[in-house]
Amino acid sequence: SQVELAGFPHYMLKEIFEQPETIRAAMRGRLDADQATAVFGGLNLSPQQLRAVDRIVLTACGTSWHSAMLGEYMLEAFARIPVEVEYASELRYRNPPLTRDTLLFALTQSGETIDTLAALREVKRKGHPTLAICNVVGSSIAREADGGIYLHAGPEIGVASTKAFTSQCVVLALLSLYFGRLRHLSFEAGLRIIEELRALPEQVEQALDTNNICRQVAAKYSSADNFLYLGRQYNFPTALEGALKLKEISYIHAEGYPAAEMKHGPIALVDENTPSVFIVPHGPVYEKVLSNMEEIKARGGPVIAIVDEHDSRAAELADDVISVPVVADFAQPIVSVVPLQLLAYHIAVLRGCDVDKPRNLAKSVTVE
Ligand code: G6P
Repeated sequence: SQVELAGFPHYMLKEIFEQPETIRAAMRGRLDADQATAVFGGLNLSPQQLRAVDRIVLTACGTSWHSAMLGEYMLEAFARIPVEVEYASELRYRNPPLTRDTLLFALTQSGETIDTLAALREVKRKGHPTLAICNVVGSSIAREADGGIYLHAGPEIGVASTKAFTSQCVVLALLSLYFGRLRHLSFEAGLRIIEELRALPEQVEQALDTNNICRQVAAKYSSADNFLYLGRQYNFPTALEGALKLKEISYIHAEGYPAAEMKHGPIALVDENTPSVFIVPHGPVYEKVLSNMEEIKARGGPVIAIVDEHDSRAAELADDVISVPVVADFAQPIVSVVPLQLLAYHIAVLRGCDVDKPRNLAKSVTVE
């Protein structure tokens, strides 16, 4: 094939390790420190249209839907625009009421997912501007949208998406900064976000240093039948994505949940053979997540904690600890997802699974 493995045993691992570079590529030329905002070449909407936006709908499938969820949290926090995240397969038949100035973003690595394309067509037919956040240049969705933002992540070969996810998160952070600065976000706040974004490639590089520990943790739990992934706020989407990665490539049943919501069902699964992966960096909900962790421990469930470097208390509670750099709250998923990708990867390898081509899955789903 055209894309080489460059010494890696699988494309998935290669793509995980490309993330410092692909994150850099997603930001290249798009940060404007003079205006403390982001710039995009291809939105193709007038300044009046952009300022008038009073509602944003993000639509996607699979991993792209998880980055959309993070997008909702960031857009609402930075720009105070109400955001709706819709599975494309639902949106296309749902006929939701949309305000006149609703803007649609379709998020898609491949640009060929049939439901995402159909949802975009449907919203476009109703007269709304539609934009694509897409990796594959010239793909169907990129062509049919009124404009958009490319990820520039390079070809993603592994069926389970990795680098496209982090690139989508970065592009959504840029967009949130952009819409924030069009509205109420201060120059200083904009500048701080720019600095936090600029630090990310190096921080993701450091998160990749967890590879060996992730392999050890994987060996310890690779025979489990069920996993829970728990996080709150910005790390709820991270939990969903961690669970999806494991499910896709290792065929272990995994559920991602908002950490507190596990009391309403998933906690019934907890026993000594059901590990829970907590994403618990410092932040406003740190204490709350610790008490969720205690509840799992009290029921004999093993706990794997993804913490930040300043942590001590989560590490005391957990059976296994994986530490990532301290970053801005909105950027936590971008560093925390790295060990989750690695954990899923190593577990799948240990179980003898076909990591790059998992059974029953396709890189892009082009039939309904
Ligand atoms: C398939 C792939 C996933 C991907 C999803 C959406 O299910 O296996 O990795 O997240 O499609 O694909 P898209 O190209 O639209 O992002």
